[in-house]
Amino acid sequence: MAVISVNNITLAYGDQPVVKDLSFAINEGDFLVMVGENGAGKTTIVRALLGQLKPKQGDIEMAKSLKIGYVPQFRNLPTNYPLSIRDFAALNLSKSRLPWLSHKEQGRLDRIIRKTDLTAIEDRSLGLASGGEKQRAYLAQALVDDPRLLILDESTASLDNEMKYELLDLVAKFQQNHLSVLFITHDWDLAKRYGTRYLQLLPNAEYREGPINELPTIEEDQHV
Ligand SMILES: Nc1ncnc2c1ncn2[C@@H]1O[C@H](COP(=O)(O)OP(=O)(O)O)[C@@H](O)[C@H]1O
Ligand SMILES: [Mg+2]
Repeated sequence: MAVISVNNITLAYGDQPVVKDLSFAINEGDFLVMVGENGAGKTTIVRALLGQLKPKQGDIEMAKSLKIGYVPQFRNLPTNYPLSIRDFAALNLSKSRLPWLSHKEQGRLDRIIRKTDLTAIEDRSLGLASGGEKQRAYLAQALVDDPRLLILDESTASLDNEMKYELLDLVAKFQQNHLSVLFITHDWDLAKRYGTRYLQLLPNAEYREGPINELPTIEEDQHV
């Protein structure tokens, strides 16, 4: 079943189209990897999926009341960033009427903090966390609201290898629990290891897609 279905969309800033006549679907349980050169339009597509950019043509169909979680590219935060890791993760919790967290919400936050391996450091300032810990905190924030689709826009870029695998191993665990994933990366190893399908943006607003085992290796790709 499609969680999101993109039908012949054209996306543009002003008159200049970034993607033309693009169609693809993300199905339940998919781990879709999006690849493409810098400036190819990957983040622009994400913005359209998040409802921040309206297609000039075509439409995007979403499963009813679809919740989307989003993990951005790593950016360093000031060391005096005011929130603890736990408070940061809680920012995305759809709260009930009360300004403070209910017992149930505390429990839910506890669970996601535990599943993202942050329990031991939850009270530490996010500004003092390592790169990998920060990305896990963003992941906890994205997942605490129980989304059905998780979008990672180059979220592993600038992490060292061990931390990349750690983050994606976590994501893959959640994926097995009814979460679909859209993962944007330049890293073919990660794409092949975790992906189930790929969407590759090509020059001139062209694209191709398919099962992950058909994603050309970088060497093959240079000969296409
Ligand atoms: N807010 C914007 N206004 C105008 N042009 C933009 C804007 N954001 C991105 N672009 C342009 O759209 C193209 C695609 O950008 P982007 O989607 O960020 O690419 P990617 O994420 O694949 O690196 C680029 O040429 C970029 O310069
Ligand atoms: Mg981008």
